Amino acid sequence: MPKQRPPRDVMVDLTIGHWIARLTYVAAKLKLADLLKDGPRTVEQLATAASVQAPALYRVLRALASVGIFAETKGRRFKLTPLAATLQTGIQGSLHAWTLMINEKYVWDSWEELLHGVKTREIPFVKAHGVMPFEYLERHPEDLAVFGESMTSLSGTENPAIASAYNFSKIETLVDVGGGHGSLLATILRANPNLHGVLFDQASVIARAQQDHYVTAAGISERCTLKAGSFFEEVPAGGDAYIMKYILHDWNDEQAVNILRNCRAAMTEKGRILIVDNVIPPGNDRSWGKLVDIQMLVIGGRERTKKEFAAMLVEAGLKLRRIVPTACALSIVEAVRA
Ligand SMILES: C[S@@+](CC[C@H](N)C(=O)[O-])C[C@H]1O[C@@H](n2cnc3c(N)ncnc32)[C@H](O)[C@@H]1O
Repeated sequence: MPKQRPPRDVMVDLTIGHWIARLTYVAAKLKLADLLKDGPRTVEQLATAASVQAPALYRVLRALASVGIFAETKGRRFKLTPLAATLQTGIQGSLHAWTLMINEKYVWDSWEELLHGVKTREIPFVKAHGVMPFEYLERHPEDLAVFGESMTSLSGTENPAIASAYNFSKIETLVDVGGGHGSLLATILRANPNLHGVLFDQASVIARAQQDHYVTAAGISERCTLKAGSFFEEVPAGGDAYIMKYILHDWNDEQAVNILRNCRAAMTEKGRILIVDNVIPPGNDRSWGKLVDIQMLVIGGRERTKKEFAAMLVEAGLKLRRIVPTACALSIVEAVRA
């Protein structure tokens, strides 16, 4: 039996989680994983390539290596480990953009206001920045670009899990509401050659999707239409299924119901809605959804339980038909007209 660590030691480790997060940000910003992709290098070589100070870089890498991210070998050389390899850019399932986005200063500044949010019910992000998150991103195109890439980055393992968990073959037109750069829609279209897709998002995001390689790829672009607008006003009409991944969790119940009502009004008579989000489980087990819920608390949204989804769907004139689990943490909440 492995010896259990004393609670105090575990607790100290938990209190310094932000140290490790910060170190991963430095590694991502300097693209250290890319610099090591062809084999080990000395810290001096890395410092020269990244234009930083070797003594401090050595300490950063040594600390990262102590938690399994990079490993030190002879002669102050460092090499990739499986964890460090996920920070490479341009690889399938790269976590580089995610690591940048989730640790950017504007995100940390909003977490700084979490205590204020708990005390007052004000939205921490708004306290920090004066505007809601997607408005902030509209005003900061560089952050918007990294945000879009980070969502795609997180989707690396989620998209195949979603595409294979649900039978899309009976659907003619699938509308991806708030579909970002289109990586999920492209994955589903590739797996279902008869399906047509509509990628719907804000104009600035659709402009980026047009430059990204997902919905513009051969075999996909012919079957995919790109449309810009706000899902608070209307969504493209005529789809027989409306999928939305990591959308409703960004918003409070009233706003989420507004989005659902717009989908209900736009879909065909026998249309269905596929909400892809965390469904919060009961119990005390470690849960990605329960932690993402705090990121949502910070930006004014929330993760939901099955009961909460069911109640919200009723408000929108819909009913919960079933919840389909996937091989990733997300579930597909299927709803139809009530
Ligand atoms: C958390 S991201 C999810 C993106 C994508 N579905 C995914 O899972 O990778 C939320 C998306 O909602 C879009 N969005 C935010 N407000 C919107 C609005 N009013 N109308 C349409 N899309 C919006 C954002 O641009 C962004 O692409």
